[in-house]
Amino acid sequence: MQAMNQKAVSPQEPAGKNSWSPTSWQSREAKQQATYPDHDELQRALDELSSLPPLVTSWEILSLKEQILQAQAGNRFFLQGGDCAESFAECNSEVITNRLKVLLQMSLALTHGLQKPVVRVGRFAGQYAKPRSSDMETREGVTLPSYRGDLVNSVEFTPEARRPDPQRLIQGHSMSSMTMNFVRALVDGGFADLHHPEYWNLSWVKHSPLAEEFQRLADSLGRAVNFMETISGRRAGSLKRVDFYTSHEALHLHYEQALTRRVPRQEGWFDLTTHFPWIGMRTADINGAHVEFFRGIRNPIGIKIGPSADAQQLKQLLQALNPDSEPGRMVLIHRMGASAIEEKLPPLIRAAQDSDSPVLWVCDPMHGNTETTASGIKTRRFRNIMSEMETAIEIHHQNDSHLGGAHLELTGEDVTECTGGARNLNEVDLERAYKSVVDPRLNYEQALELSMLIVSKFDKLQ
Ligand code: PEP
Ligand code: CO
Repeated sequence: MQAMNQKAVSPQEPAGKNSWSPTSWQSREAKQQATYPDHDELQRALDELSSLPPLVTSWEILSLKEQILQAQAGNRFFLQGGDCAESFAECNSEVITNRLKVLLQMSLALTHGLQKPVVRVGRFAGQYAKPRSSDMETREGVTLPSYRGDLVNSVEFTPEARRPDPQRLIQGHSMSSMTMNFVRALVDGGFADLHHPEYWNLSWVKHSPLAEEFQRLADSLGRAVNFMETISGRRAGSLKRVDFYTSHEALHLHYEQALTRRVPRQEGWFDLTTHFPWIGMRTADINGAHVEFFRGIRNPIGIKIGPSADAQQLKQLLQALNPDSEPGRMVLIHRMGASAIEEKLPPLIRAAQDSDSPVLWVCDPMHGNTETTASGIKTRRFRNIMSEMETAIEIHHQNDSHLGGAHLELTGEDVTECTGGARNLNEVDLERAYKSVVDPRLNYEQALELSMLIVSKFDKLQ
């Protein structure tokens, strides 16, 4: 689909290192964009957005880059997680608190188990725009625009709800800012009070086939938390506010552009909607608008790499996005599927090794393992998620590389969206608490279980 708002396009020079500007993406094909019925209305919203304060700061972005650099060197583990799509309706205290809690607990289990600090990155405070397989959706003879995330339209199947509404861009900025504000306040106020037994819900552990191993890990984690508190006199896990970073798929390029700014005493441009934007698999085209936009921002950036990517494409992307081979800039998030990873990943690892760019390899074991049940429910099997994660760890190890992180769709709520896990949820359970309007997420227990499995797998490599 064409980039919306063609009016704003100014004639661009052919792409080259020096011709980048926050609008230069507009001369390229922009996939997965909304088609707004009224361009003037869109322009007014973008003008307003351009005058609003940014959501993050350049120094936070640069400190994340420093942490990614350490992860590239194997000295940190990168944990990125949150909803497939945030929704405006779920911008509330309970959802945000529970999501932060599960991410903090996972990161504590990983820090303790892997004996290295974790880079904590939430898929939140802006994860509001979604790529779709089709622009239009037809139900019982009625065809309407597809739901593209709350930043664009609303999920209900009515013409009013599905009309792309530019005011949602302003609302998305506000909701991101509220989420951010609450997360910062929680983290600052000692929310990470990790030593109360009731705070950790580990009742699932006894249902796992690895119950004994997990119980040992949980016990030693408890002892470590007490020990840290005793020697430091501080509550374990009390974090500085810069220790939690945000991320989203930077899909809606007009939105990203409106918050891409220069800042005093720094060179270049920063995308100030988030610390860590990533390019989705469907928009990682070397000649496309998204790659053009990302090439000019100074944030660390992620690229989703799917099973159709080849070594040549990966080399071109690294060259285009990190021509100066800057450490800390590139994160490659592979999402192959449990059945494809063994064949697809090794040539890509070699391609990255042949390029000059340092990279951090992260596994997204979610998006290659989505399936639909006979009754039409989108789900993922915990067994496949775990298998892709474990295979990824092994393949990197065998290829002189290192898996440095996990990218997960999860929630702190007790949902039933993925089957399996210690409690062995089945297809009937999916009907009980299925809330996602897009992809199925790990629930609280499954997310903690996966982090313990990651620790266990790395342990076995030693
Ligand atoms: C996502 O992360 O929600 C997503 C759409 O992923 P991908 O681009 O890897 O399909
Ligand atoms: Co998703």
